[in-house]
Amino acid sequence: KEDERQQMRNALDLAAKLYHYVLTSTEFGKRARRYVQERRILPETVKEFQIGYAPDSYEFLLSFMKKRGFDEELLEKAGLIASRETGSKRYFDRFRDRVMFPIHDSQGRVIGFGGRLIGDMGPKYLNSPETSLFHKGHHLFNLHRARSPIRKEQQAILFEGTIDVIAAWQAGIQTVIATLGTALTEEQARLIKRNTDTVIICYDADQAGQSAALKALDLLKNQGCTVKVAQMPAGLDPDDYIRRYGGEAFKEEILAGALPYTSFKLESLKKVYNLQDEDQRMKYLTEAIDVITDLPLAIEQDHYLRRLAEEFRLSLDALKEEQRKWKIRKK
Ligand code: UTP
Ligand code: MN
Ligand code: MN
Ligand code: MN
Ligand code: MN
Repeated sequence: KEDERQQMRNALDLAAKLYHYVLTSTEFGKRARRYVQERRILPETVKEFQIGYAPDSYEFLLSFMKKRGFDEELLEKAGLIASRETGSKRYFDRFRDRVMFPIHDSQGRVIGFGGRLIGDMGPKYLNSPETSLFHKGHHLFNLHRARSPIRKEQQAILFEGTIDVIAAWQAGIQTVIATLGTALTEEQARLIKRNTDTVIICYDADQAGQSAALKALDLLKNQGCTVKVAQMPAGLDPDDYIRRYGGEAFKEEILAGALPYTSFKLESLKKVYNLQDEDQRMKYLTEAIDVITDLPLAIEQDHYLRRLAEEFRLSLDALKEEQRKWKIRKK
């Protein structure tokens, strides 16, 4: 069993090298080279992240690896190839026509890949399947590189996408990590907390990103982290933003303006209601008071109640009276 795991590691490591070689140094890799160039990923970044290309073929990796003595079952266990049962079993490359991003464990060993489609045949992103080495919910993209910067700066920036991480890293922001195509798990939250107490969540501005941010916020808060949520302008994700405005602007405009826990909750609640409508405005206020009343510190509660009172031109006394009623209801 240990021997098999070692062989899987060898296969994954070799695959990463092969894909990287194809992208950087072969005719097959031409389109992929143009693609990474269009996305403003520099050659030194391609090298640092060992970015590669899986050609548009069903047996490119398979035949290479077989020649190197790896058998098909092992390659399938490593998540590199897949099989189809039609009479006899047929094996084929899992990743085809994709720019390949190796995913590492905390010790920097390759455990899987994320693949970004260049053409349009299939889903935009494809990750390695769950294997005995690769558990999506247990690992974070780039943590092995970001760990020491995160510890030194006592701050982590959490993105949705691998390319967001790469763009930020390339712009000199090194405390960057991402989940692997799934919602943040409790295990990942714990993993982050082991390295820092302070996290900035920086997800896409779309609906999916914002509701994922709310969930990640609570998970990290429950681990005892101080969490802020950065607000991306509509239609831009961190990679788009950095490409357009640069890393300094990203730090000064986006990271520095990240909202603390309660502010973000109140802001995202606002989007649920039409505040022009009186009834809906009242519903928002009721829910806002709910959020505020959950806060552990009386001074925090007071602070946010005052803000709410100012914002909606209400008396603080009225809000406190509502809060009192709310507490009775809750008992
Ligand atoms: P996004 O859907 O935000 O990617 O997914 P994007 O920004 O549009 O992609 P680009 O910029 O065109 O390349 C964010 C991340 O979620 C994961 C990938 O890691 C991706 O980077 N993801 C997304 C998956 O794993 N599978 C999917 O089907 C979609
Ligand atoms: Mn697992
Ligand atoms: Mn997204
Ligand atoms: Mn993107
Ligand atoms: Mn995105």
